[in-house]
Amino acid sequence: GDPRVARISAAIRVVPDFPKPGIRFRDVTTLLLDHQSFKDTIDILVEKYKDKNIDVVAGIEARGFIFGPPIALAIGAKFVPMRKPRKLPGEVIGEEYTLEYGTDRIELHVGAVQPGERVLLIDDLIATGGTLRAAISLLERVGAQVAECACVIGLRDLKGQERLGSKPLFILVECEH
Ligand code: PRP
Ligand code: MG
Repeated sequence: GDPRVARISAAIRVVPDFPKPGIRFRDVTTLLLDHQSFKDTIDILVEKYKDKNIDVVAGIEARGFIFGPPIALAIGAKFVPMRKPRKLPGEVIGEEYTLEYGTDRIELHVGAVQPGERVLLIDDLIATGGTLRAAISLLERVGAQVAECACVIGLRDLKGQERLGSKPLFILVECEH
């Protein structure tokens, strides 16, 4: 494999029992402190998507806002934030999704993504896939074409990929839950 990926993986800190007991939190802030690994993360994704005719990079709040914009700038795409409720000031369209306990919702500015545009969807991590699935569904409701989803980290045993159906998903660092 790519030796850069092993260094990226090693730069991600695991915090036990955060935010609650039993959760092993994957903390990408330590990756951001390691200049070479942060740059390699962006470079790998840019190499992969630069010639794929991506019009829009959509980033999911919060950490999709860290990795999405440098990719968008490098591949010549727009950046569109997909946010938690009541954060976007303009007219929004939203999609609810279920969490382990309760529900959450993401919102998108109406008109930010045009029908037919090819979107690369970025988040830091996929666990159950519920967040990405809601984001895909929201983008498809406005007529966009979600070309691919990409996450820095994928938790293998939660089978998030299966919730995305046939949608292509790229995971940089695969790890056990
Ligand atoms: C985390 C993570 C992903 C999502 C993945 O975000 O950053 O966005 O969970 O989980 P899933 O695949 O089971 O949907 P979280 O909802 O904790 O919010 P945050 O990014 O604002 O911290
Ligand atoms: Mg998140």
